[in-house]
Amino acid sequence: MNTPPVCNYEGSDYQRSFWEEGGRAYEDRAEAIALKRLLPKGGRLMLELGAGAGRNTPRYAGFDRIVLLDYSTTQLAQAQERLGRTDRYIYVAADVYRLPFRAGLFDAATMIRVLHHMADAPKALAQIRAALQPGAVFILEFANKLNLKAILRYWSGRQSWNPFDLEPVEFVKLNFDFHPKAIRQWLGGLGYSIEKMLTVSHFRLGLLKRILPARFLAALDGLFQPTGAFFQLTPSVFVKAKLPGNADTAMPINIIELFKCPDCNSGNLIGKEDHLVCPSCGAKWSVRDGIHDFRERMK
Ligand SMILES: C[S@@+](CC[C@H](N)C(=O)[O-])C[C@H]1O[C@@H](n2cnc3c(N)ncnc32)[C@H](O)[C@@H]1O
Repeated sequence: MNTPPVCNYEGSDYQRSFWEEGGRAYEDRAEAIALKRLLPKGGRLMLELGAGAGRNTPRYAGFDRIVLLDYSTTQLAQAQERLGRTDRYIYVAADVYRLPFRAGLFDAATMIRVLHHMADAPKALAQIRAALQPGAVFILEFANKLNLKAILRYWSGRQSWNPFDLEPVEFVKLNFDFHPKAIRQWLGGLGYSIEKMLTVSHFRLGLLKRILPARFLAALDGLFQPTGAFFQLTPSVFVKAKLPGNADTAMPINIIELFKCPDCNSGNLIGKEDHLVCPSCGAKWSVRDGIHDFRERMK
């Protein structure tokens, strides 16, 4: 299958090194404030794309069930340690470009700090759109190329790429910044209306983070976040997008009814002891240690 490359987090200690020991308490708290503002009060089935070690998952408390999807099984194993293995959480190893879900199932989805790894963002967004039901809410965080620091660097000749053009910029291999207008155009083209845009991490400056407590800086960030409705100059932007129509509240009873074969798109997978099998194309998808793995067929 011809899909864009994946930024591989297998074996990474991202959660510990970046969040817990990386001095990112301010960013984490600022994101929590933004999510609280954007999330629906509740729902039945949430899809968390690129869930990583489940840092944000407890913030989706209003949802009956949450599917944590990530390409890395080591990230999912860390999420399992944090959240446990109960019916409430469904762990899925898969590629955002090749989602293994039947169409129109989820009433909400989030993708936080993941789009910046997408070499083909429109392709990923189209996959997510197909998994959502009418009326669904999609909360997307993206890294903003039109941020103040990039603009100043460009104007002073210290940065070659132009923050004002709409093309994504790959500033490090498989790390992309996006223009807010391009994001709006892609989401609009998929039929979403944009309900809210919040700017996040206004104060991502080493000095401020050193001298001011994270809690205070995040609360201040919260005051500025609504300005995102008018202009977006921060490194991170959160968007709440909504599909037209009314949600159909029916939910599959068995977990297996969520899935389709990512190779042939057949929706009638059959459960075996340690795998699912597709009767249409014969592909087998492993289920091991509580993780449904749709990355590669079992041999
Ligand atoms: C920067 S981490 C963010 C994790 C989490 N959302 C958070 O904010 O803490 C990016 C995550 O996206 C996952 N990822 C990257 N490309 C992916 C893809 N094509 N399909 C599924 N997951 C992907 C990585 O494995 C990693 O866990």
